[in-house]
Amino acid sequence: MYQEMDFDKIDISSEPPVVEPARQYYFMAKCREWVKGFEQRNHRLPCASVVNMGCQMNARDSEKLRGILLEAGFEMAEEEKGDFVLYNTCTVRDNANQKVYGHLGALHSRKKKNPSLKIALCGCMMQEPKVVERIRTTYSFVDLIFGTHNIFKLAELLYRALTEKKMVIDVWESTDQIVEELPSNRKYPFKSGVNIMYGCNNFCSYCIVPYVRGRERSRSPQEILSEIEKLAGDGVKEVMLLGQNVNSYGKTLKEPVSFASLLRQVSQIEGIERIRFMTSHPKDLSDELIETMGDCNKICRHLHLPLQSGSSRILQQMNRHYTKEQYLELTRRIRNCMPDISLTTDIIVGFPGETEEDFQETLDVVRQVRFDSAFTFLYSKRTGTPAASMEDQVPEAVMKERFDRLLQEVQKIAFQVCRREAGMVKDVLVECVNDHQKGYVSGRMGNNLMVHFPGDPSLIGQIVPVELVEARGFYYMGKMKH
Ligand code: 5AD
Ligand code: SF4
Repeated sequence: MYQEMDFDKIDISSEPPVVEPARQYYFMAKCREWVKGFEQRNHRLPCASVVNMGCQMNARDSEKLRGILLEAGFEMAEEEKGDFVLYNTCTVRDNANQKVYGHLGALHSRKKKNPSLKIALCGCMMQEPKVVERIRTTYSFVDLIFGTHNIFKLAELLYRALTEKKMVIDVWESTDQIVEELPSNRKYPFKSGVNIMYGCNNFCSYCIVPYVRGRERSRSPQEILSEIEKLAGDGVKEVMLLGQNVNSYGKTLKEPVSFASLLRQVSQIEGIERIRFMTSHPKDLSDELIETMGDCNKICRHLHLPLQSGSSRILQQMNRHYTKEQYLELTRRIRNCMPDISLTTDIIVGFPGETEEDFQETLDVVRQVRFDSAFTFLYSKRTGTPAASMEDQVPEAVMKERFDRLLQEVQKIAFQVCRREAGMVKDVLVECVNDHQKGYVSGRMGNNLMVHFPGDPSLIGQIVPVELVEARGFYYMGKMKH
């Protein structure tokens, strides 16, 4: 993990080093030199902002990007105040892409008033050649584009964007390089995401992730454990282990390790009190993992287990490698071992060929499993994926009507399920002062639900017992137990 760096010791008049991460420290030092010039001209430091538009992996990447920008001498600011604005994009559904184009439109007017504004784009959407082409031709005021495989290079690319006049584009098709020894600016001092693997090998037929994030690569357990030990030393109490499919963690390592075994090792790290992980693919969720979760009370009683569809026929078309019955059986096994577990899921409505009967199967699973919450998505056609060229694309109106019915069902059930702990006392990790109610703080229980209760800011970062006095929809009002 990153160690504090003395930038004055770096000789920026010499050629840049070839090896990483030394090369990036050299460019951070170069950027700091540029920042000094900016400060002399403007009597203030330059401001940067990183706008995160995607999933938890993306959010973690954004923390790394912010860490690099801070070391490069920038201050972090709101999007509107940035001299350097970086969008970390998502492309999993088309509305994410449309949002980016919308932002770019607004930024263009800003740049016309302030030509020194620098605009950069990175993340999953930039891995698509047709997107880069569109930006190059239609949004030529953008200064920098890079992808998901080379975010570690931000210092070098930033320096080029600051000092060169033409658009800098650096997108890699794939990589086997994992560069980690770089700074990171965590949003919360007491909890952190930790990447345990990158990429995905599953090729679900609707999903663009394997194309933009590349093949699955696991980090070694030693590296992960040493990162978490350092985080614990830094005051972190909760870690979220991140990967597109954490249940297949370690399978491709030279010395294969199971995800359950990694979890057991993480749980032995002193100072770490809560362990979460995201995302689990049902086809790879092992009994060893269920047992490990049952045995280890540091592992949060929460599983995000994307269902996608309740119809075995559609699941097969989706290339998910499980049936409705196997999914139901899996949730039964999980609940047998941990009756109090919170189960959440992702569901796609309107996959090509989905009939009303298929949709009824999805509703049936929702009613049987009774999820604590579910993210519901309208199927979005992603060019290049097998599903995009399937016949029988579901008409938009049909899709929307099903979506509304599903959402209603999901919310009705979640509303009932979320109340089940009313009256109990649960440990809550306090995250922040409550913005809406003076004198209140807000935190999360192990099952990820929020609790708001009277308390002062000194509680932030602590795990405290709270009585769940009143269930209000998807959160609780509570009272701290002394
Ligand atoms: N259309 C709609 N939803 C999608 N997801 C992934 N690809 C698509 C798509 N093409 C959803 C899945 C996944 C979540 C992160 O996004 O439900 O679990
Ligand atoms: Fe996409 Fe499937 Fe991989 Fe998840 S497991 S990232 S849905 S291909």
